[in-house]
This record gives sequence, C-alpha cells and structure tokens, in this order.
Amino acid sequence: LFVRQNVAKMQPYVPGEQPIEGGFVKLNTNENPYPPSPEVVRALLAEAWGALNLYPDPMANPVRDRLAQRFHLDRGMFLVGNGGDDLLTIITRCLAGEGDTVAYPVPTYILYETLADLQGSRKLEVPYAADFALPPGLFGSPAKVTFLANPNSPSGTSVPQSAVQELAASLKGVLVVDEAYVDFADESCIFLVGKVPNLCVLRSFSKSFSLAGLRIGYVAAGENLITEFVKAKDSYNVNRLSIAAAAAALDDYDYMLANVAKIRRTRGSLTEALTELGFSVLPSQANFIWAKAPEPGAAEIYQTLKSRRILVRFWDRGELRDYLRISIGTRGQIDALLAAVRDIVGVKDAG
Ligand SMILES: Cc1ncc(COP(=O)(O)O)c(C=O)c1O
Repeated sequence: LFVRQNVAKMQPYVPGEQPIEGGFVKLNTNENPYPPSPEVVRALLAEAWGALNLYPDPMANPVRDRLAQRFHLDRGMFLVGNGGDDLLTIITRCLAGEGDTVAYPVPTYILYETLADLQGSRKLEVPYAADFALPPGLFGSPAKVTFLANPNSPSGTSVPQSAVQELAASLKGVLVVDEAYVDFADESCIFLVGKVPNLCVLRSFSKSFSLAGLRIGYVAAGENLITEFVKAKDSYNVNRLSIAAAAAALDDYDYMLANVAKIRRTRGSLTEALTELGFSVLPSQANFIWAKAPEPGAAEIYQTLKSRRILVRFWDRGELRDYLRISIGTRGQIDALLAAVRDIVGVKDAG
C-alpha cells in the first residue's frame, strides 16, 4: 500500500443512506423537511445568471459581514466553509498532529474519530453516563483539541453554557463546540466567542436553514485562531451559489425561525407518541430524537420501516444497537412513521 499506516488502518466514515430513487420518507440524516426560504431560491437564480465564470470571494465576505452584524463580533472572527465538515477538517489539521491527543465524549458525531485517525492523533474517547451530562474525564485533559457536539448527535441532548465554560477553562488546548443543531435548542455558546480564548463555535446551514444540499457552515473564534485556520483552507472553499444562498438565508432569518418552531412542536408530539408506544426517548434539543426501542428491537424495527420505504438511522455498533435516531419530518411524515411503528410493535392504531 502507498498510503500512510494510520489511513490504511482506519474505518471509512459512512454517512447515512441517500437513496437515489424517490418515494422514501427520509428521517435518517437530520435534514430539514421544509424547503429553504423563497428569497434563497431567488438569490440562487440571480447568481446563476450572474458571474459563474468568475471565482468566488475567497473569504465569503458577504456571509461574514452578516454574521458579524448578527452576533456583534468582528468579521475577522468568522471563517466560512463548505459545510461544517470542511471546517472540522481545517480545525483538526491546524491543531492536532501525529501523536497529539484529540478528545471527545462518546457516543457522538463519528467524523471526529475519522479526523483524528487521519492525523495519526491519539483519541481520548470519554463515555457519557446515562444522563448525558459532561463526563468528568473530559476536564483537564492534555488534548490539543476537544470536540463537543452541543446539542449532541446521536443523543439529541445538550449541556448548559455554564458547563461548557467550565470545560473550556480546564483545558490547555482548544474546545470546539459543534453547534450544528443549536437553532433547535434553548441555549447557545456563541456569545462566549472572543471572551473565552480557547473556544471555537461551529455552525451549519444544513439543518435549520434547510441548505444541506449546498454545503455551508462557519466557525466563530478569536481572530488569532481564525487567521491560522485560513492558512489550511482551499483557496475558494465556498462557491458562488453557496455564498449567495447563505447571505440571503441570513437576511430572511425569520423564515428559518418559523420552520424551527414547527420542528420543535413536532419533536414534542413525536416524543410523546413514541413514549406511549414503549420507546424510551432522551430529551432532545435537536431536530431529531434518539430512542431506545421496545420489542422487536431497534434492528428489526429499522429493517421493517426500510422495507416500507421509511428511513431512520440505526448503528449496528455497541450500545447504539438498542436505539433508533429519527429526524423530525413534517407532520405528515411523522404520522406515516408512527402508523408504521404502531403496526410493527403490535399496538392497534387508534385512528
Ligand atoms: C454534530 C454534527 N456536526 C457537524 C455536522 C456537519 O454538517 P454540515 O457539514 O452539513 O454543515 C453534522 C452533520 O450531520 C453533525 O451531525
């Protein structure tokens, strides 16, 4: 083999299924079931008729300027990327080398493990207890970078801002708070950026802004860190269409907030309905729920749902095996899911 040993040994990251045929109720990759703002579509069309022959703004400044205004921070405290994943890659490449430690509580977003492996870094994986509070083993670690998905995936749970602040203060390295799902939560840490020197906050347009297909995210941090991250990015890491879409999406913030409100309401009713059916559902602050399945078990429920063209997420891995992660769809999608689940777990449909 020509590749480095750590690459040869690592497991590839496997994203959730993206079926090519239509007709699926797709509740497996935490996409937003609602389309993006009509203003975003208008901006995309205008940009498409515009200057696609020219390279985009290398720093995506129209997006940075709007973020700076919204969060009362300097433009230099933001870096925009080709999805949150692009920024996670840039951050890991800048902060963790061979033999350095990368820490994160588990279970969490599997990409953190992939990125650590790519760097040949050591992984400090600290298990969450059943309550999904921050595990004490994460505090004071020698990690060069610590990842905390908040809200976390797959659990959907979140930890309070005060706990994040304590964790950051205990670390010598950088704490990356991954807020891909934060718009569905009650609390964010973005207002700590610039006040806590070793804090980076990552966000995505894929979930709350319904733009998973365009790939846009950003990281907010002290300008000294952003200046370093810029060195590791592709020259033009965000394309013209994505920049136009993200700027228009930020200009129509209320549209996003209205969809988030609908999703939060549906999350509440799905949690109640599944609990009645014998699932044990963790309290979710995200656009999905994670639930321990009753008989006939998560694997069988997942397979039967799939045969009925309803996709949810199931990991055949350790303790995750007992759980299903279900993204919050439209009311209609969730009604279809619940009807199928009632049938599979043997509860008569009251309707
Ligand atoms: C915890 C977490 N972080 C980051 C991402 C990356 O999002 P994107 O690259 O679509 O912006 C995801 C996507 O599923 C996620 O679950």
